[in-house]
Amino acid sequence: MPPQPVLTAQHLSKRYGPQRLFENLSLQLARGEMLALLGESGSGKSTLLNCLAGLEPLDAGQVLIEGRDMAALNEEAQAALRRERLGFVFQAFHVLPHLNVQDNVALPLLLQGRPDPARVAEMLAAVELDRHARHMPRQMSGGQLQRVAIARALVHRPALVLADEPTGNLDARHADQVMQLLRTQLREQGAACLLVTHSQQAAALADRRLQMEALA
Ligand SMILES: Nc1ncnc2c1ncn2[C@@H]1O[C@H](COP(=O)(O)OP(=O)(O)O)[C@@H](O)[C@H]1O
Ligand SMILES: [Mg+2]
Repeated sequence: MPPQPVLTAQHLSKRYGPQRLFENLSLQLARGEMLALLGESGSGKSTLLNCLAGLEPLDAGQVLIEGRDMAALNEEAQAALRRERLGFVFQAFHVLPHLNVQDNVALPLLLQGRPDPARVAEMLAAVELDRHARHMPRQMSGGQLQRVAIARALVHRPALVLADEPTGNLDARHADQVMQLLRTQLREQGAACLLVTHSQQAAALADRRLQMEALA
């Protein structure tokens, strides 16, 4: 039997009112694979990521994560699957303002009842924020917050990483560092990554590229 894909999306369709974002879109991600999702602003990249994570309803289609049909799970089971198997880097970071950097990164592990300070420290060091562990988000720059969001998305070793322009606010050196970190996680944990990016350099590091076009 061939190994099970991390993500299988079949015949996905989504519209907002009269606006069609995608229609009959299918894709698959194998373990260790990175797919770069490119496309103009407004073409539906963030919406697709939200739909894949079950955070936004689809009009049609099926999403399987490690073989499990998201739509067949009740809300609680979907949330548990997201918590344990998904790492999401939101375009707007969604770092919690009342938790310091270290507690933000620790959150996915705490929510699963398996705190791991050594792992948190490792992730903070990987994004060069170890010296900022106790800083509050309001004391951090946009690029630093983006790196907090990336460390948080990877800390619990998710099977599927959905990263929405994760290097969009970073200088070249930190962008490169984040791409290497993603690559390492994929290689070491066998995770898969769907990477939304406008950066040709980042896209070049992916195994495959998919261009989203605006539909009429
Ligand atoms: N909740 C929503 N309600 C209505 N329209 C939305 C909603 N979210 C996004 N859109 C629209 O869908 C289109 C795609 O948005 P988005 O997925 O954010 O694109 P991208 O991430 O590729 O820039 C945009 O035209 C946006 O205005
Ligand atoms: Mg977007």
